[in-house]
Amino acid sequence: MQSTSSTIALPVGVTLDRYIMRQQRDFPFATGELSQLLRDIALAGKIINREINKAGLIDVTGALGSNNVQGECQQKLDVIANIRFIRALKNGGEVCAIISEEDEEIIYTDNDHAKYVVAMDPLDGSSNIDVNVSIGTIFSIYRRVTPIGTRATLDDFLQGGRKQVAAGYILYGSSTMLVYTTGHGVSGFTYDHSLGEFFLSQAQINSPADGSIYSCNDGNYNEYPENIRHYLETSRRQGYTGRYIGSLVADFHRNLIKGGIYLYPPIPKAPTGKLRLLYECAPLAFIAEQAGGRATDGFRDILDIEPSELHQRTPLYIGATKMVEALLETV
Ligand code: AHG
Ligand code: MN
Ligand code: MN
Repeated sequence: MQSTSSTIALPVGVTLDRYIMRQQRDFPFATGELSQLLRDIALAGKIINREINKAGLIDVTGALGSNNVQGECQQKLDVIANIRFIRALKNGGEVCAIISEEDEEIIYTDNDHAKYVVAMDPLDGSSNIDVNVSIGTIFSIYRRVTPIGTRATLDDFLQGGRKQVAAGYILYGSSTMLVYTTGHGVSGFTYDHSLGEFFLSQAQINSPADGSIYSCNDGNYNEYPENIRHYLETSRRQGYTGRYIGSLVADFHRNLIKGGIYLYPPIPKAPTGKLRLLYECAPLAFIAEQAGGRATDGFRDILDIEPSELHQRTPLYIGATKMVEALLETV
């Protein structure tokens, strides 16, 4: 369990609010703005959780009939989650700008005096919405580099993953969980619907150093680079288990807890990979590293990539350190 300098470690069962408050007390110069931002994100998660839970009842399943900036078919809940999240962050006042998978350009909150920016995938795994399979929200927080009081710019978002102040995800699964890091380990909170609160359920998530689960879209197998095919063949011979939900956040979470590797290699129709660096790969890489795991694009650690575009894509190999290292040996 994570210990704090001022007090005894917080017990499992403490509320997220109290946990955030106590963490803040351990940083003498903390102003409380990041704490408030984390609470705003948790609130957005609760709202999205509510929308998802009643999805089958209120005609919000299915496609909207539009494409997002990636040219991908938007689901109604993608758009709803995006609107809800942006609204919660605008109202919270701690964020000066947002980027989202669902919007091509930077979204300004009109809070130019706020010192944080957020990159988010409001709903990850949205092709699984209609079939009641786990989906999630991924977020990444940076301290802005442009002067407070001015308009945020691209530079605020293109700092590189090592500059993240916090990152996390909300997993709408068999239970709803918030998992996040501020660079001092990874903590997990489980949502109690009846009380409307997140409670600390994993004080310190340490991912197994090795594992026997591999997660990739097997339908793309013949399109994978030769070394990746070789790695997968070896994994099969070693008796590894294949597990693929098709929601990155859910596949990542399972592997984080049980030990495994998630792979999304480059393929001809996605030559630089499918997943987005700023709001899918970098936040999960931050969490993976904080839990003792690794994340790479095959050449560099994901957190060392210098981004050049808001919606940049990258190949991703993420999970148990020994499995990622074994894969890197095939390069
Ligand atoms: P999103 O729903 O945010 O567009 O993300 C979908 C991503 C990711 O969640 C998942 O792991 C991957 O796409 C699945 O891709 P394939 O269908 O190509 O396997
Ligand atoms: Mn996604
Ligand atoms: Mn998405």
